[in-house]
Amino acid sequence: MSNQKEIVMSGIRPTGFLHLGNYFGAIRNYVRMQEDFECYFMVADLHSLTTHPDTKELKENVHRVLAENIACGLDPDKVALYCQSHVYETSELYLYLNMLAYKGELEKTVTFKDKARQHPDNINAGLLTYPVLQTADIILHRAKYVPVGKDQEQHLEMARNFANRFNHRYGEVFPEPIAFNYNQELVKVPSLDGTGKMSKSENQMATLYLADEDDMIRKKVMKTKTDGGPTAPNSPKPDYIENIFGLMKLVSNEEVINKFDNDYNNCSIRYGDMKKQLAGDMVNFIAPIRSKVNAILADEHYLKDVMRKGAEKARASARATMLLVREAIGLNY
Ligand code: TRP
Repeated sequence: MSNQKEIVMSGIRPTGFLHLGNYFGAIRNYVRMQEDFECYFMVADLHSLTTHPDTKELKENVHRVLAENIACGLDPDKVALYCQSHVYETSELYLYLNMLAYKGELEKTVTFKDKARQHPDNINAGLLTYPVLQTADIILHRAKYVPVGKDQEQHLEMARNFANRFNHRYGEVFPEPIAFNYNQELVKVPSLDGTGKMSKSENQMATLYLADEDDMIRKKVMKTKTDGGPTAPNSPKPDYIENIFGLMKLVSNEEVINKFDNDYNNCSIRYGDMKKQLAGDMVNFIAPIRSKVNAILADEHYLKDVMRKGAEKARASARATMLLVREAIGLNY
C-alpha cells in the first residue's frame, strides 16, 4: 500500500444480515473511501465475545458480514479486510493500553452501562474494557480517520484520550483518531413503519435486509402506511409519506420521483402505484447484491483467501506500529 495516503480504520460488528440503513449509512462510505485512503476494515469478532459467550454462530456471522461488504463493493484487493482475531498484535496493544485506562472512566461509558443493565449476570472485564480494545484496533494502524456513526462518538473520544495518554507517558507514537464521513449529515434511511430509522433490533418488517427475497421486499414495501392522499394542492407531506419519498430517493430515478411529487402536489397521487414502483426499484437494487452475497458465501476458499490476505496487510502495518510501541514503553532490552 502507498505511504502517502492518509489512514482510515473502522470495525464492523459480525452481527450479519445488513440492512439498507447499514448500506447507505456506512458501507457506501467505506466503498468511496477505498479509492482515496489507505483503508483497514476489520470484522470485530473479539469484541463480540464480550456479550456472546456462545460462539457457535460466529463463523457463519463472520462469513456473512464479509460477503455482504464485498458484495456491496468493498474490494479486498484495495483495502485490508480482515478479522480482528487474526491480528494478534491487537491483543498486545490492548494489554498496554489497559494500564492507561481507569476504572472510573470505563464504568461511565454509556455502552458499558447499557450492556451491564441488559446482562447483569455477565459484567465481565472485557465488557468494561471494550473501548480499550476498540482503541487498540484503531491506533494499531496509526489511523487518523474512523468512519463511524453517532453511536460510536464516545468510544472515539476515549480512543483519543488513550492515545494522548500513551503519547504523554511514553512519547509520541499515535495520531489522534477522529470520526470521518463524507457527508456532514449521515444518510438516514427511514424505517418502513414511519418511526425512526431502519435498524436491526426494531421491527423486522420495517427494515429491508440485503438478504431479503424479492417477495419479502415487495411485501414489506406494500405494507407501509399511507392515507387517503392530500386534499389541498401543495400540502406539506406527513412524515410517513415523506419517508416513502425518502426511500425512493435512494433507489429510484429522478423522473419517477418527480412524477410522484407532482402527483402529490396536484392531489392525483395513487399511493398503491407509488409503492409498487418503489417495491420494484428496491428489488432491482437489492436482488443483485443478494445473489452476489450468496455466491461469495458458497465459496469458502475465496473467503479464506480474503481473510488471509487481509490479515497479512493488517499485520504488516501492526508490526511496524508495535516496534515503535515497545521501544517507546522501554520494552527494548
Ligand atoms: N464498536 C464498534 C461498533 O459497535 C465496532 C468497532 C470495533 C469499531 N472496533 C472498531 C469501530 C474500531 C471503529 C473502529 O460498531
